[in-house]
Parts: sequence; C-alpha cells; structure tokens
Amino acid sequence: MRFDVFTLFPEVFEPYLSVSVLGKAREKGLLEVHLHNIRDWATDKHRTVDDEPYGGGGGMIMKPEPIFAAVEDVLGRPPQTPVILLTPQGRLFTQDVARELAQHPRLALICGRYEGIDERVRQYLVTDEISIGDYVLTGGELPALVVIDAVTRLIPGVLGDPDAPEEDSFAQGLLEYPHYTRPAVFRGWEVPEVLRSGDHARIARWRREQALKRTWERRPDLIEKAKREGRLSPEDLAFLARLEQERRGGPVHS
Ligand code: ADE
Repeated sequence: MRFDVFTLFPEVFEPYLSVSVLGKAREKGLLEVHLHNIRDWATDKHRTVDDEPYGGGGGMIMKPEPIFAAVEDVLGRPPQTPVILLTPQGRLFTQDVARELAQHPRLALICGRYEGIDERVRQYLVTDEISIGDYVLTGGELPALVVIDAVTRLIPGVLGDPDAPEEDSFAQGLLEYPHYTRPAVFRGWEVPEVLRSGDHARIARWRREQALKRTWERRPDLIEKAKREGRLSPEDLAFLARLEQERRGGPVHS
C-alpha cells in the first residue's frame, strides 16, 4: 500500500511511522509513505501557501495553486488514485471506512492547515473528505496518521497473527472483551476463573458475552447496527434479551 501525503509539516510523520507495526510494515515493503511538502510547489520567493479570505473575516486560507501543482505533479492530471482531504467536514472515519480504503493500492492524503482550504481544491481535485471525529484539530497531519495506521494494520502480513484484525473491536461490530495476563492475582484482584480453566468452549462463550455486555452498556448504537446487519446469533440475542430483562428488574430465566 502506498500513501502520498501532502502537508506543510512533513517532519511530524517520520517518528511515528518508524516504530512498531508501521515501522516493520515499511521494512517489509508492505507500506510506503511518500511525504510531499506543499511549500515546495509555491512559486513566489516567499514560498507563500496561504492568503486572506475573499469576503473578509479572520484567519488565512490555503491557496489552490501549490496544492493542485503538488498533487498533479506526483499523481498525474487528473490523478488516477483517490485524493482524500482530511477535514472536520468529511465523512466520519470508522472501521468500515478503513476496510474500504485498504482495498486501494495507493491513496493520496491532503492535510489542511490554517482556517481552511480554497473551495476549488475540494470541488476539482479531492475525491473524498474524511473526518476522524467531531472535534477540530490544528491540522490534518494527526488525522492522516490515524488513517494510515488504521488502514495499514488491515493489510495482509502486517500484523503477526493473520486473524488479529478480525478479532478487533469493531471488526465484528462489537467492543472487545476484557483481556488479562499474568499475574493471576495482582493487589488482590483476580483474573476471572473461567480464563484459567483451560475450557476453550467456556472461554469463547464468556468472551462473547463480555463483548456483548460491554457494547450494550457503552455503545447501544453498535448493538442496533449488528442486529440490522444480521451479525448476532440466536444465542447472542437471547443473552441480550436477558440483559434487558435484568435492567428492567424483571425475573431472569436461564
Ligand atoms: N482537521 C482538523 N480537524 C480534523 C478532524 N477532526 N478530522 C480530520 N481532519 C481534521
């Protein structure tokens, strides 16, 4: 997978991309990140990349010319790959979106800065706009790293365990069950007995129920989505019905 990142601050990427899973993915050639400084395509002697907004108002706006020049130089005119703008106005980034993006061999990411970006960049260059959440950051660099991270770990061969991405929170549309490691007792707090029982069927059932319970408590919207998409078994639905009944204070039949 190749990412071409267009940014005014390329130096913030390297440290994060060099360590751990992403660092190894790059070493193995599974991930390539090409960083492009938009300022290198500015044509005046001050290398200007921003200007005042037409119509007045505060803040500066990113000029269209250096962005078009940079993207078209690197990707062709018109670009033959998706060109994604990171912006709070984009569609919300989710695991489903990460899976969708992981299908492409190459993606371009444009990181906005200042108060905004000239609208013609969105209209005539960008093919997709993504937000990583309903909050405003000072630029698109962290969101671009978020997208690169979430997409890269879905590429076959990047994670040690090939089943790992499927076990994630959200991969199944549920939050994860609780994890424990040694020691069995820490400050008097015990690891649940079932996890030490060696009974794999019981462990699997416990984990599934914990995932369902946690999701039901914290993210009922994800339970509704899983129901709509037919991803819950009759056992799952029976377990959830029991939780509902307990919440209402009704009798529990097991
Ligand atoms: N740029 C600033 N805030 C952002 C956000 N929440 N998502 C994507 N890009 C952004």
